[in-house]
Amino acid sequence: MQRFAATYSRPSLQWDDLKFLRQHTKLPVLLKGVLHPDDAKKAVELGIDGLVVSNHGGRQIDGEIGSLDALPAVAGAVKSKIPVLFDSGVRGGTDVFKALALGATAVCLGRPYVYGLAIAGQRGIEEVIGNVLAEFDLTLGLAGCTIVREVTKDSLVKLQAPTKG
Ligand SMILES: Cc1cc2nc3c(=O)[nH]c(=O)nc-3n(C[C@H](O)[C@H](O)[C@H](O)COP(=O)(O)O)c2cc1C
Repeated sequence: MQRFAATYSRPSLQWDDLKFLRQHTKLPVLLKGVLHPDDAKKAVELGIDGLVVSNHGGRQIDGEIGSLDALPAVAGAVKSKIPVLFDSGVRGGTDVFKALALGATAVCLGRPYVYGLAIAGQRGIEEVIGNVLAEFDLTLGLAGCTIVREVTKDSLVKLQAPTKG
């Protein structure tokens, strides 16, 4: 555990380190792992170019908030000032549709493309991406949308949790 913590984490990292990055590169800086709207606002203030709403594929804290559950509040806080990318759990076209409807500018695939790579190399990755795109295209059409811009939160219905008793 100590070896893992020493290799993967740097608890000393602060928001000021983002200022350092911003000052030392003209490349776009995207902040990944944002799940709280306050962090999103702070990132915008610091001149970050984009966010990735992500719980890193659910691989960090057991029981943490799902990325999709965090997305609407983060997107709301950003108010379209910078792109909001989304990942963790995107497996098919309907997942893409839901993420876009809840405020994502774009989505990223994590493990699915690696599975494709393991099975069939580059062709496997192309298959995975092609299938996700085709399924998204189909979902778009079946939901009555002709272009991505028409996918909004009104495209989804929030079901009430069943009440006890
Ligand atoms: C084996 C593995 C290692 C990962 N390592 C990192 C990492 O070092 N840093 C990071 O930000 N995300 C890491 N991730 C998370 C991915 O960047 C990405 O957020 C995640 O895989 C997306 O979720 P999905 O796999 O459900 O699509 C890792 C994911 C996997 C599966």
